Amino acid sequence: MNVQSEILRDHKPRSTPAFLSVWDMHAYYGESYIVQGLSFNVHEGEILALLGRNGAGKTSTLRSIARTGSPMVTQGEIWLDHQPLHKMSSYEAAAAGLGLVPEDRRIIPGLTVEENLQLAQIAPPIGWSIDRLYDLFPRLGERRKQEGITLSGGEQQMLAIARALARDIKVLLLDEPYEGLAPVIVDEIEKTLSLIKEQGITTIIVEQNALRALKLADRAVILDTGGIVFDGTAEEVLQNDALREEYLAI
Ligand SMILES: Nc1ncnc2c1ncn2[C@@H]1O[C@H](COP(=O)(O)OP(=O)(O)O)[C@@H](O)[C@H]1O
Ligand SMILES: [Mg+2]
Repeated sequence: MNVQSEILRDHKPRSTPAFLSVWDMHAYYGESYIVQGLSFNVHEGEILALLGRNGAGKTSTLRSIARTGSPMVTQGEIWLDHQPLHKMSSYEAAAAGLGLVPEDRRIIPGLTVEENLQLAQIAPPIGWSIDRLYDLFPRLGERRKQEGITLSGGEQQMLAIARALARDIKVLLLDEPYEGLAPVIVDEIEKTLSLIKEQGITTIIVEQNALRALKLADRAVILDTGGIVFDGTAEEVLQNDALREEYLAI
């Protein structure tokens, strides 16, 4: 990182309140110390790309924020819109507005597309209506009666995102949403994520496809062995060849 961006970072306007704030977060899998004191902010309505090499700790960071219990967060604070997530169970954090879309998508076998969405709305707080979700993802509307797990990979990813929005969420946490998908499907999901942003939802996207994520994101945080090595704009990362080569291998 050059000196100028260092200075710019130090002079970030303090008046912009963080919507999601992670402060000095540490987390372990058993004895393994993985998340090593992370602090970063996400502003309301922005898309933050959380990047870094394989094994850098991106999934662990999302799972820590979502209060999954694995890894176990031992220290630090996580605030979402003035609510202390660090004091909550995963269930409470979801009710407080956190929507985690894990890498494996977890579509429920034996249920149709529509039933997967209905199940997400079985308890309040309810988010987008199913009709509105079909407007956002027309492919899901066309396949509403099809069993969810028989959808293509891209459609399953859309269903996983739609299911998160079916609840009343403030922040969408996406773990490798483009993984294994053809570029045309990535285009489609990328457009949808922009539309979701226009609706005021805040997003953290973890992606191995860093260039695609940076194209979409406003800001980026780069992790390396469980610590933060960069926090700045997506544009800065795109312009900094050395940074991308060292931490993203692109
Ligand atoms: N369930 C687990 N138990 C023990 N170690 C794990 C577990 N999951 C991930 N790790 C380790 O934590 C580190 C970070 O992994 P992860 O968060 O999955 O990275 P990323 O998502 O950036 O690829 C890696 O060294 C990985 O081997
Ligand atoms: Mg991962």
